[in-house]
Amino acid sequence: MTLPTRPVEFVNPRAANEFKARTCSIRSVGSYLPEKVLTNEAITKLVDTSDEWITSRTGIKERRIAAEDEFTSDLAANAARDAMKKGGITAEEIDLIIVATITPDMLFPSTACLVQQIIGAKNAAAFDLEAACSGFVYALEIGQQFIMSQTYNTVLVIGAEKLSTIIDWEDRNTCVLFGDGAGAAILQNIPNSHGLLTATMGADGSKGELLCMPAGGSKIPASGDSLKNRLHYLRMDGKETFKNAVNAMCSAAREVLQRCQIDISQVDHIIPHQANQRIISAVGDRLKAKEEQLFINLDKYGNTSAASVAIALDEAATSGRLKRGDIILIVVFGAGLTWGAAVIEW
Ligand code: UT7
Repeated sequence: MTLPTRPVEFVNPRAANEFKARTCSIRSVGSYLPEKVLTNEAITKLVDTSDEWITSRTGIKERRIAAEDEFTSDLAANAARDAMKKGGITAEEIDLIIVATITPDMLFPSTACLVQQIIGAKNAAAFDLEAACSGFVYALEIGQQFIMSQTYNTVLVIGAEKLSTIIDWEDRNTCVLFGDGAGAAILQNIPNSHGLLTATMGADGSKGELLCMPAGGSKIPASGDSLKNRLHYLRMDGKETFKNAVNAMCSAAREVLQRCQIDISQVDHIIPHQANQRIISAVGDRLKAKEEQLFINLDKYGNTSAASVAIALDEAATSGRLKRGDIILIVVFGAGLTWGAAVIEW
């Protein structure tokens, strides 16, 4: 298999050699899911819905809900600790923390700074990244840039969400879909090792209203009216979001496969954003993937936005499903609209 080389011209030939040899490897992954399970059956006590409707329309059976005193930074820090333990990395070794989230503990300071403090990564720079459900792929690609440019040696990338705090528990169109959780990956340059082969990111801001939380920012700050009109909750046009998700995920996946000159049949595992079983099946069908290539865990966790593919990656790795040298295709879609895809050689 030919690996993609980046079209960069170097003045210094030694730098060129170093750059070509350099890869961005995923040293380890980790995740954290809150203990409390909220089943479909339990949601029928909150809104007019049924286990049959939720299962047949989404594939979701249950989701996790964080405790009242457990915040996005705690979920993120627990996932980070899991990845650090699995990778044998100390907090002091981390140069940069990127937290992808749409449910930060507060608008500022960033959740990444809070995580830095919790895990004791005192040498790390830290910032949040907001690309909704596409956040983890965006963060991977940005983390990779810092590794490839030799700016940093160890980058901690986290997708973490406490979506239960922005869900309108009176809206059956949305409250059945989402859950809380976090996943993390540690990126490093490990000489002559495998890693992130390529990634793509995309956005279409003209369709932002399809999936948004109108209030809480500078446009509609908290007020009596904003509360009365329930503007601090996530809103979604499900049908339109669905169509856009399938199209964007297919073209992002095709783009990265084409770049790596890999056919879909050579992909060992496809890890799609876990929003809806029907979206995953439609993407799989259009890409001509086999069912056994698709990794699915949304039945247990629902849509955890930026955490979704990070949790799935950790679950696939921990269960022994991923073998060294396997080709993994990650493909995501979310509010913004945003989308992305990445190819990883495990
Ligand atoms: O992570 C970011 C990306 N997010 C997504 O990609 C989500 C994309 N959208 C979806 O997954 C699907 O559109 C939904 C699961 C949200 C909805 O599925 P749908 O097949 O598009 O259903 P629908 O919105 O067309 O609604 C069908 C019917 C409606 O009733 P009427 O108007 O036909 O009488 C809804 O009111 O189902 C009704 N409905 C429900 N019924 C029982 C909507 N939600 C529920 C519910 N329980 N929870």
